[in-house]
Amino acid sequence: MTLPPVIAIDGPTASGKGTVASLVAEKLGFHYLDSGALYRLVALASEKEGIDVKNGPKLGVLAQKLVISFEKGQIFLNGENVTEAIRTEAIGLRASALATHTEVRSALVGLQHGFRQHPGLVADGRDMASVIFPDAILKVFLTASAQARAERRYKQLIAKGISAKLDDLLRDLQERDARDSSRGAAPLIVAEGAKVLETSDLSIDQAVKAVLDWYQSKGA
Ligand code: DC
Repeated sequence: MTLPPVIAIDGPTASGKGTVASLVAEKLGFHYLDSGALYRLVALASEKEGIDVKNGPKLGVLAQKLVISFEKGQIFLNGENVTEAIRTEAIGLRASALATHTEVRSALVGLQHGFRQHPGLVADGRDMASVIFPDAILKVFLTASAQARAERRYKQLIAKGISAKLDDLLRDLQERDARDSSRGAAPLIVAEGAKVLETSDLSIDQAVKAVLDWYQSKGA
């Protein structure tokens, strides 16, 4: 039996890949994997258990035993709804730090492969095209300037009533970009054969259309 097709969408933090990937999945009737959420779940759980972010072996064991479920856009960790709790800047930075450990990355591979179900999957993250789904039918590297990404994140937070400073957000995302791109294990890279989509001046609809057009041009 042939494996369901995968569209892999990688990119830096706040590039809009989550929004674009979930809309593409919706349009095609495909499943959706937000792989960053898995690293954020390990970040939240390890913070609760007081595990040092430098302790790769202990974090790997923790990542293996997490009971995670995704239901109708809500995310549950060991039965608790943590959809909002994993979205903070602090959890994002912690996730980026612990994602450097191979023990953590390997513990999450099987879980990610499990999302590949018929009729297909749209997966977003940092290493979807390079490591997790190297046979993806379409590989997209979605990006935008650091300034544009910081402004988007700022607007999202303010809209949610969360106070934020643009300068702090810009500094945090540059720190995260540098770490995600320079780490030894599965760094954020433009995978071979990936199409680069620069979204600084694109609307969400335009970005979604570009991905769908590429997918259709694959004869899918
Ligand atoms: O996409 P995000 O901001 O929710 O991801 C949070 C962190 O998780 C990111 O800074 C690095 C890590 N991550 C990763 O290493 N590999 C992935 N496929 C997805 C996220």
